[in-house]
Amino acid sequence: MDIAVVGSNMVDLISYITRMPSEGETVEAPDFRMGCGGKGANQAVAASRLGSQVLMVTRVGNDMFAENTIKNFAANGIDTKYVMRTEATSGVAPIFVDSESRNSILIVKGANARLCPDDVMNAKDAIAKCKIIVMQLEIPLETVYATIDLAEELNIPVLLNPAPADPALQLEKVKKVKFIVPNESELSLLTGMPVDTHEDIINAAHVLLDAGIPNVIVTLGSKGAVWISSSGDKTIPATSAEPVDSTGAGDAFIGCFSHMWTKTEDIEASIVAANKYAGDSVTKRGTQTSYAKAGDIEF
Ligand code: RIB
Repeated sequence: MDIAVVGSNMVDLISYITRMPSEGETVEAPDFRMGCGGKGANQAVAASRLGSQVLMVTRVGNDMFAENTIKNFAANGIDTKYVMRTEATSGVAPIFVDSESRNSILIVKGANARLCPDDVMNAKDAIAKCKIIVMQLEIPLETVYATIDLAEELNIPVLLNPAPADPALQLEKVKKVKFIVPNESELSLLTGMPVDTHEDIINAAHVLLDAGIPNVIVTLGSKGAVWISSSGDKTIPATSAEPVDSTGAGDAFIGCFSHMWTKTEDIEASIVAANKYAGDSVTKRGTQTSYAKAGDIEF
């Protein structure tokens, strides 16, 4: 097994809109898609499609969405032994994508909010066989913290994607991760620093380095990503793309990065590949529907 994703799954309800309605107003949206999403599931699917062996630790609900989500994991070659059913609704995400490919996302965590530290401990033997643990913040923070402690015990590196930004996240409890991968607004919330200029971003990233996290990778959307470590900072530009839907592009980046890093342990090359993979995903509609398979994209 290569990658353990301890994280969320959602059903994405994507409306393609011309504008958001005002309060009390009804506006017609020209198109709609429903698909599998959730930051954890998206990252797992991206890595698996590229050829990694992926274990998913997550909770689905007891509704009509759950079976489809489990089938989708299996169809993407993901180990579903620790995809657990829960007396709750499945996570859902109403998403609005405008004509300039920008998205606004609401999440209803549902069963994801019940993924508890014991669930992760139950999967300990399977997690112990993985080369990296990948997490996001659509599950309880206590589960994130417990998984980081478990990873230390097992000597497995952790990649934390602090998304969606959560003001309750305690830096002290996540400082043992090997990689933290925020976008600009997540970096700002995490550090309490401005991120208006490149210099601001580097300064904010240094707060995380100073806390003990050795690699900070800030995703910059169409501008690529910047990797900050004790060796300095390196900006790796995005590949140019004509965007139609940016939903899930950050997850595509992390799934691809995790896949490439477990194969090569080359951080810069993994960011170059992740930029290309995420850039390709924004040229297609939907979340997981926009993720290429190995062989469909060259790195
Ligand atoms: O990052 C995109 C994802 O965020 C969507 O798939 C949605 O489900 C939310 O989790």
